[in-house]
Amino acid sequence: MLIRRRRRLKLNEQERDQMRTACRFNAEVLDVVRPHVKAGVTTGELDSIIHDYTLSHGHVPACLGYPGEKSPYPKSSCISVNEVICHGIPGDYVLKEGDIANVDLTSIVDGWHGDQSETFLIGNVSEEARNVTQCAFDSLYAAIDSIQPGSPISNIGSVIVKEAKKYGFGVVEKYVGHGIGQKFHQLPNIPHVPNREAKRQKLEPGLCFTIEPMINVGTANSDLDNGDGWTVRTTDRKLSAQFEHTILMTESGPEIMTLTKSGPTKGHKFQ
Ligand code: MF3
Ligand code: CO
Ligand code: CO
Repeated sequence: MLIRRRRRLKLNEQERDQMRTACRFNAEVLDVVRPHVKAGVTTGELDSIIHDYTLSHGHVPACLGYPGEKSPYPKSSCISVNEVICHGIPGDYVLKEGDIANVDLTSIVDGWHGDQSETFLIGNVSEEARNVTQCAFDSLYAAIDSIQPGSPISNIGSVIVKEAKKYGFGVVEKYVGHGIGQKFHQLPNIPHVPNREAKRQKLEPGLCFTIEPMINVGTANSDLDNGDGWTVRTTDRKLSAQFEHTILMTESGPEIMTLTKSGPTKGHKFQ
């Protein structure tokens, strides 16, 4: 996401617990939608499940109405299929065998945000589709494993680029992870490719942020859909995959706040 708000916060114990609650609920929503993510369903139907479950539990989908340059975001989640890198708008598209589909959702629970995404393989997929999904997943966990309190933010990008190199895949630079809390997107930026700014900034205890690498089979370059003002695609229309967690840096290391009950866990091999 492009960052437009400037604020960086070190959370106290009570605020950390509020983030845990928001992230736990967000992960629960992903577990609720998970069995429905298969061939034959429309992305709009998946979005409705997310929307209805969130509202019926008294919470708010952060994406709905989120301000954009052209128009507010029209749906409650982002579902990005195949060559869509991020911010795919759910609608009439029917998922089919061989697709890869990233479901990215963010809930606001008592004013605090939990943000995460997973890429799903729809039935049997090509080796390329499996590889790009595996690479995005492995790069997220490698990045989490590489950080400690006080680590430079640039460690994250260094590790992700290293994972992508194993396959010769591209890492998207334009869209980055972000600080998160009472705001959806706040400083610091968490780039997935190391840069000078990230080298200077440290992951201090109490910082809450996302890591959300977008890995492309081909070029890292993207273009924004002029029509809807949101959908981001690879310029070469080759596949892109992404995973995202919300992380709290504690005094003793990173805590993944958005762990699901039924999703892939560290070390998972996509089949
Ligand atoms: N969930 C995305 C992120 O990880 C942001 C989506 S904003 C929306 O930062 F408006 F497109 F929904
Ligand atoms: Co995010
Ligand atoms: Co997200």
